[in-house]
Amino acid sequence: MTQATHDRTAWFKGGTANCQVTLAPGARAYRLVLLGAPGVGKGTQAELISERLGPCHLSTGDVFRNAKTLDPSERTPALSAALEFMKRGELVPDDTVIGIVRERPNCLRCPGGFLLDGFPRTVEQAEALSGMLKDLSMKLDAVLSYDLPIEQIVSRLSGRRTCSSCKAVYHVTGKPPKVADVCDQCGGKLIIREDDRPESIRVRMQAYETSTAPLAEYYRQRGLLISIPAEGSPEDIYKRTVVALAARP
Ligand code: AP5
Repeated sequence: MTQATHDRTAWFKGGTANCQVTLAPGARAYRLVLLGAPGVGKGTQAELISERLGPCHLSTGDVFRNAKTLDPSERTPALSAALEFMKRGELVPDDTVIGIVRERPNCLRCPGGFLLDGFPRTVEQAEALSGMLKDLSMKLDAVLSYDLPIEQIVSRLSGRRTCSSCKAVYHVTGKPPKVADVCDQCGGKLIIREDDRPESIRVRMQAYETSTAPLAEYYRQRGLLISIPAEGSPEDIYKRTVVALAARP
């Protein structure tokens, strides 16, 4: 396990920002990628994996959502354009996303490991990640791909509520907060994500089928893919994940 809670300072600030994470003696630093359709539960699993196995949760979607809270004058033109793509449910252009990950080298070399969620999302992004890791003499341990029938995905997305402050994820029936619309963890206001509107969900699903689903084959060919059924409770899926990871050399 890592020592220090992950506040993800380096991920949100980028540049030379650091998180002061150290690896406990004998612990393993996992370097993982999560794949799966929008709403399958990647963020939910990322929270459990990060809390219990230690790698820091690096979500490109969270970087964009965090940028929304900045004053528009503090956003770069590329970031402002990215927010418009995101609102419509479209993928942000590869150059912008790759640039954002490149500006955060301390996260990929974090001694506690990392858990990339939402990146890579295209083969071009996967190639860029491979180059960044090669430059750091690092390798991925595995790519966890979560699978679920579309009807269940739509039900998960339509009930999702997200904390506007710490980004914790809830569900109106599956994981309700103790107090309606208030985050259990930080007291922040819970909101419906802009891209969870039906018209944006449709566009996101199409983008997934066209650009992201082929990544499963990309990583299968490289011997890294682990497919995990995403039915059942978050705890059931987490247990499947741990068993599958332990089965790898
Ligand atoms: P991103 O933030 O990455 O979103 P996403 O991939 O669409 O995934 P979601 O966050 O919607 O879902 P999730 O799988 O994490 O599910 P969750 O755990 O929340 O990207 C958003 C946008 O940013 C993109 O559309 C794009 O515009 C842009 N972007 C980001 N990265 C990019 C990139 N690399 N390239 C280009 N563009 C990029 O769960 C969903 C709900 O289900 C929750 O309410 C949860 O409580 C519930 N739930 C979870 N697990 C269970 C369970 N087992 N049973 C019942 N309910 C469950």
